[in-house]
Amino acid sequence: MYLGLDLGTSGLRGLLVQEDGSIVGSAQETYDVDHPQASWSEQDPTDWTTACEGVINSLRAGYADKFSDLKGIGVSGHMHGATLLDSSGSVLRPCMLWNDTRAHLEAQKLDELECFQEVSGNIVFPGFTAPKVLWVANNEPEIFSKIAKILLPKDYMNFWLTGNYVSDMSDAAGTSWLDCGARDWSHDLLSKSGVRQDQVPDLFEGSAPIGNLRSELAERWGVGRNVMVVGGGGDNAAAACGVGALKEGDAFVSLGTSGVLLAAKDSFAPMPTSAVHTFCHAVPNRWYQMGVILAATDSLNWLSQIFDADAADLAGIVGTSISGPNNMQFLPYLSGERTPHNDSAIRGAMLNIDIASTRSDMVQAVMEGVSFALRDNLEALKSTGTNLSRALGIGGGAQSEFWVELVATVLDMPIDLPEKGEFGAALGAARLAIVGKTGLDPQTVMTPPKVAKTILPRSELTKKYQLAYERYKMTYPALKALV
Ligand code: XUL
Repeated sequence: MYLGLDLGTSGLRGLLVQEDGSIVGSAQETYDVDHPQASWSEQDPTDWTTACEGVINSLRAGYADKFSDLKGIGVSGHMHGATLLDSSGSVLRPCMLWNDTRAHLEAQKLDELECFQEVSGNIVFPGFTAPKVLWVANNEPEIFSKIAKILLPKDYMNFWLTGNYVSDMSDAAGTSWLDCGARDWSHDLLSKSGVRQDQVPDLFEGSAPIGNLRSELAERWGVGRNVMVVGGGGDNAAAACGVGALKEGDAFVSLGTSGVLLAAKDSFAPMPTSAVHTFCHAVPNRWYQMGVILAATDSLNWLSQIFDADAADLAGIVGTSISGPNNMQFLPYLSGERTPHNDSAIRGAMLNIDIASTRSDMVQAVMEGVSFALRDNLEALKSTGTNLSRALGIGGGAQSEFWVELVATVLDMPIDLPEKGEFGAALGAARLAIVGKTGLDPQTVMTPPKVAKTILPRSELTKKYQLAYERYKMTYPALKALV
């Protein structure tokens, strides 16, 4: 029995999986994100461990016999967060998350040093770990002086599980300190950020064993003494393991809190000027490229808060099939944007509101704005030489048939929808543990899900959506001039 844990932005999910990959059961606990100031986004790491205990309790209650046979654990998590620990392993301040952009000046300063893009293969985005730590140095010097270890969110979970300070290549790639081609920390990038080598954890591949479950937890959870914990992965790499996106040409589009268009790569071929992310995969000798937009379903969640409505209900009011672009336009830059603009100062907009505009127009505009932003990501990927012919559609937003048809039409590519079931980051994390324990080839363990349905672009509407996308592209520079 294997456990995949996915530390998501809004909750922690646990998935029990057998060695042959079949699913036994799952459990979930939620927690909040705090926004104490505009552009800040924080979580208390204690909420993660409390959620994990809750998930374990539920799994034990539901699947007692199976759980006690636990052999391995893999953890996936939201990337880039800075969890700062003192020399006793205590958390020094709330974790600053991936969509926290307060460190934009620090990011700019580091990014201007040529070595960062050259060695890490990526822009130093404000949400990445290095600028956040520099922000702490500049604004909270007392805390900075006490930092003994800097851990990514899922690595904090791994520390809690094993007592070891460890990171994996896929998550470390999002710090701005990793030489992503060499799969090793860059001493130069660390020292240019004011960080010592001993403050970062040891590096492992995502499928490599990093230690055993602490005996205190093993006893409390009623499992054996040799439960192996593996390196795990950043959530996008783990999701790629969950859907079997390992080799060149494999791709997914994820409508989650953030929106991601990810393409697996056989080699490391970065092109930071495109604002595409080029990161190590969670399995050895592989990489991936992705465009990231910061607010995908988060845009719909925002609208649902304004309307005091449930997001899924709201998504339902546009129906199941598209009929052409709305006049109203939405720019989804609610937390700034990564690909392609790398602009933490830009904010969202709703344009062309008419006296007759309805709630449904607004929902459609939000879904269209997110889809056009994903098209921007496709263009950015193309500019690096990565061409995609189809992609799997995953994430909460992919439950909306309307939204998936829209994405297929705007990207002008078929979107494959997996059969109902598990294929996300929690499954990917469990699969990393299976590979770690059994030594099996990742390619045989990390197979793609069965496709339930392929959603084709609506060819009679692609021209109209192409024109609407051209119009969308004109809005960013116009808006930028006003900020
Ligand atoms: C990737 C990114 C997000 C988070 C949260 O670079 O910031 O996808 O990992 O899911």
